[in-house]
Amino acid sequence: MPLITFSNPGYKDKTVYAVAGSFTETVLKIAKTNKIPISFDCGEGDCGSCVIRVKYLGDKAPMGYHLEEKEIKVLRELGKISKAELEQMIVDDLPSTWRLACQFIPRDEDIVVEYDAP
Ligand code: FES
Repeated sequence: MPLITFSNPGYKDKTVYAVAGSFTETVLKIAKTNKIPISFDCGEGDCGSCVIRVKYLGDKAPMGYHLEEKEIKVLRELGKISKAELEQMIVDDLPSTWRLACQFIPRDEDIVVEYDAP
């Protein structure tokens, strides 16, 4: 069961369990459920306001590359990922440090999510 620690300089870190076995909830939904004041606007992967920085914890190698098409588009527009970085992630099968909270569904690994608050 993954542990997700939400971190923002203005708030105390909060660690929550993602719901066991479902893996269908986005980080944004998990944040809302746990009253974490994460910035978001559209909730649809279009605006980029929910951009988060993800750190993968633990001894295991992080699970491999996975970005939704919408995330690639928005993260590229925000200048968070260059074309070269994206290609390298795919080649090395590495996860992205930058994600959109409204699109990112955590898998079975512990992570720290650095977020912006409104
Ligand atoms: S809330 Fe708009 S991209 Fe996530």
